[in-house]
Amino acid sequence: MPRPGTVRTMLPLADAHGRVATDLRVSLTDRCNLRCTYCMPPEGLDWMPSDDLLTHDELVRLVRIGVERLGISSVRLTGGEPLLRPDLVQIVAAIADLRPRPTIALTTNGIGLAGRVDGLRSAGLDRINISLDTLDPDRFRTLTRRRRHADVLDGIRAAKAAGLAPVKINAVLMRGINDDEAPALVDWAGREGVELRFIEQMPLDAQHGWRRDRMVTAAEVLAALAGRRLRPVAAEGRSRGSAPSELFRVGDTDQVVGIIASVSRPFCGACDRVRLTADGQIRNCLFSRTEDDLRTLLRSGAGDEEIAEQWARAVAVKLPGHGINDPSFLQPDRPMSAIGG
Ligand code: 5AD
Ligand code: SF4
Repeated sequence: MPRPGTVRTMLPLADAHGRVATDLRVSLTDRCNLRCTYCMPPEGLDWMPSDDLLTHDELVRLVRIGVERLGISSVRLTGGEPLLRPDLVQIVAAIADLRPRPTIALTTNGIGLAGRVDGLRSAGLDRINISLDTLDPDRFRTLTRRRRHADVLDGIRAAKAAGLAPVKINAVLMRGINDDEAPALVDWAGREGVELRFIEQMPLDAQHGWRRDRMVTAAEVLAALAGRRLRPVAAEGRSRGSAPSELFRVGDTDQVVGIIASVSRPFCGACDRVRLTADGQIRNCLFSRTEDDLRTLLRSGAGDEEIAEQWARAVAVKLPGHGINDPSFLQPDRPMSAIGG
């Protein structure tokens, strides 16, 4: 915290295309207890060496610099699987102590959440997204290569019971695997009172197996949901803002479903995100081909101001878009699990 009387200038994380990053996504670990086929090979990956991972204090210091000096107002903790990080509750508590207090969100696969969500909530967790691609335990096993469907459902129930609202559920549909499940997932979400969002599969898998023509598009999801009478929420006067999700109301109910058309309708022009990897690299985009090494700077004894300046320079050069639809697109070297979703 600044001492009384200290004047510190805020350096917004602005880029050359008129955007300002205020939403920090922090990957806490690249490890995961699932092996989703759109993310990793069955054998997992070569995890980051532990010496490279930011320690608790390093991580909290970087988030503090983001909040105090760079205008970060929301922090999302991701992975890999962030619940694998033993100090997760302490990280949430430390972020909740920052001023101005950012909103704190978690993206998780839900495994082990049931036993930990009350502690996370008490520590200051505001929002949660849980990934669930199928309602069928056998398909879950095919998709994630683990028998943990019941654990995820327990986690979702516990998040609701802990008072996190709305609980958002992320679903990725894959052709020939779970692409017939859109209506059933919507009906389930309505019964459970959770906010379902379909995310187009992006070229971020470690195996580089993504094919555009295999991707289930937002248009296909909408067509599959024709029987559910979806109406755009934008038509009710709520604008999408920087949120990637296009929201639809289901019939005349209170239920809202989101569709995130990252590939077929990119929202890069409104992007307000910046990412910090578990090993202390700033990425100005999920799809960046370059990173800025804050860990080395931090470990060399740099002060907060110097770190803030390098971070701001990293965001200043953010490209206008991800370029997935350009013929010259190259997938980033790091997979999603090492970047943070
Ligand atoms: N494309 C789209 N979504 C993905 N996720 C992981 N990998 C991909 C991908 N290649 C999702 C997960 C989780 C969130 C972090 O991102 O299912 O919900
Ligand atoms: Fe784990 Fe998420 Fe990757 Fe699935 S998508 S293997 S839950 S990091």
